[in-house]
Amino acid sequence: MANMVKPLIAVVIMSFLLNKGKAIFPFHDFVIMSFLINKGLSGNNCSINDINIGTVRSGREIEGKPEWNVTVINNCGCSQKSIKLGCKGFQTAEPVDPLILLKSKEGETCLLINGSSLVGFQSVRFSYAWDPPFLLLPLDSSITC
Ligand SMILES: *[C@@H]1O[C@H](CO)[C@@H](O)[C@H](O)[C@H]1NC(C)=O
Ligand SMILES: *[C@@H]1O[C@H](CO)[C@@H](O)[C@H](O)[C@H]1NC(C)=O
Ligand SMILES: *[C@@H]1O[C@H](CO)[C@@H](O)[C@H](O)[C@H]1NC(C)=O
Repeated sequence: MANMVKPLIAVVIMSFLLNKGKAIFPFHDFVIMSFLINKGLSGNNCSINDINIGTVRSGREIEGKPEWNVTVINNCGCSQKSIKLGCKGFQTAEPVDPLILLKSKEGETCLLINGSSLVGFQSVRFSYAWDPPFLLLPLDSSITC
């Protein structure tokens, strides 16, 4: 919604300026307008690549396996839901809440937060324990702006 509002604001500003007969600074007006429109469009430019996954060693050990803290962040202004991560072979000595990370039956992909929305710039954290750690990759999502 917010992204549709921005170009509208630009149009309103433009007609305001035209009505006031301020055609003396046409370049200035054009710059303001395209700035607002570009901002509006860039908000829609989110992709699965904006899901970033950071893994750090927590320093703890669970059943002799190092524990890893994972942060999944949506680095974009739009919500992403039904987020699937590539998690081939994933296993853990420390239970992970399946509502946070659920491994598919095939064991190749994992569903994040039960398919719910990860709002823009929000993150999800979980920990698991295994040696070596797994390469978790963002695969697919459904984006709503
Ligand atoms: C969207 O992002 C891609 C890659 O970051 C970029 O090449 C493209 O120009 C962007 N499009 C818009 C409309 O901002
Ligand atoms: C790892 O996660 C645990 C549990 O959430 C937390 O207590 C700990 O501070 C985290 N450690 C690091 C290094 O992020
Ligand atoms: C998890 O997702 C399923 C399918 O969308 C839904 O039926 C279920 O209520 C969800 N569970 C929780 C605890 O939100």
